[in-house]
Amino acid sequence: MSILPLYLIPFLPEQASTFAPEVDLYFLFLVGLTLFFTLLVGILAIVFMVRYRRRRADEVPEPVEGAMLLEITWTVIPFLISMFIFAWGAKIYYDMYKEPKDALEIFVTGKQWMWRAQHPDGVREINELHVPLGRRVKLTMTSEDVIHSYFIPAFRTKADLVPGRYTMTWFEPTKAGTYHLFCAEYCGTQHSGMIGKVIVMEQAAYQAWLAGGTSEGSPASNGQKLFASLACSTCHQDQNRGRGPTLAGLYGTEVRLDNGSTVIADDAYIRESILNPNAKLVAGYQGIMPTFQGQVSEEQIVQMIAYIKSIGPKQDGTKPASAPVAGAAPVAGPAATPTSGGSVSK
Ligand code: CUA
Repeated sequence: MSILPLYLIPFLPEQASTFAPEVDLYFLFLVGLTLFFTLLVGILAIVFMVRYRRRRADEVPEPVEGAMLLEITWTVIPFLISMFIFAWGAKIYYDMYKEPKDALEIFVTGKQWMWRAQHPDGVREINELHVPLGRRVKLTMTSEDVIHSYFIPAFRTKADLVPGRYTMTWFEPTKAGTYHLFCAEYCGTQHSGMIGKVIVMEQAAYQAWLAGGTSEGSPASNGQKLFASLACSTCHQDQNRGRGPTLAGLYGTEVRLDNGSTVIADDAYIRESILNPNAKLVAGYQGIMPTFQGQVSEEQIVQMIAYIKSIGPKQDGTKPASAPVAGAAPVAGPAATPTSGGSVSK
C-alpha cells in the first residue's frame, strides 16, 4: 500500500464559486502566519534555554532595565499584521454581504428538518437547489421554527436562517457539479440529517430543468391570489381610496409614519406590517388592520411580498418585473429533457 503524498490529502473542499479562491488564500495566510509564529517562538524558547542556561550554582544574572526599541518593535509589527488580517477579512465579508446586482433570486425556507426552495418562476424543490452556472444567485432566506444555517462548503458561503427575519446570501458558481449542502447550526435531534445537494448546471440544462419542474405559479401570482383570498384588497384599494393605503408602487419607497418618522418599504417592513400591523402605522390611517400572525406561513408572506414587489416601482436596482399573471405556468420548453441534475456531474 502506497502512502498518500501529503499534498494530495484534500484539506479543503473543491473550489466552486467566485468566493472560494480568495477565502482559501486568506485561510492559508492565517495558517501560514500561525505556523510561522509557533515555530519562531518555539525555536527561540529552546535556543534561549540552552544559550542562557545557568552555568554555575551561584550565578546571578545581570538585571535588565528595559529595551524600548525591542518593545516598540514587538508591539508595532503584530499591530500591523493584525490590522492586515482585519482589513482583508472585512473586505471578503463586505463582498459576501453586499447585495449582488442582477442576481437570480431564490427564496429558501428552513424547517425542522428540511430545506425548501422556490425559484422565481415558481418551481419548488426540497433538499436540493438547482442553480445555473456563471450566474449570480441570491438566496433570500427565513426559518419556520428555529435558527438554521445554509452552508455550501464548495462555495465557501454560510448564512443563518433566523425565524422572523430575512437574511441574504449569494454566490456565483464557477463549476458545474453536485455539491454538499449542510445545516451548520444545531437545530434539534435531526440536525445532522438536515442536508441536501446543490446542483450547478449549465445555463441550457438549468432552463430545461426549470421547464420540466412543476410550478404552481410564480411567487408573485400566488401572492396576488392570497391577497384576494385573505380579502386584503377590500381595504388596500387603488389610489388610496380604501381604509388602508394602496400597495401599488409602494415597494422600495419611503413611507411616512403617524409618529412622524419614515421607513423604507422593504421586505422586513412589509413582513412586519402583515404580522404586526400597528407596529409602524402609516400616517393618516387608523390602526384597524388585524394581525395575520398564525394565518399565513413564512412562505406565503414571501409570496405576498413578491406580489407587492411586482406592483412596485423599484426592483432593487434591476429592471422592473412584468405584471404578475394569475396562475402563470412556466413556458413549455424541451420538457423531454431529464429533469434531475444527474446528467451533470462534476
Ligand atoms: Cu437545521 Cu441544523
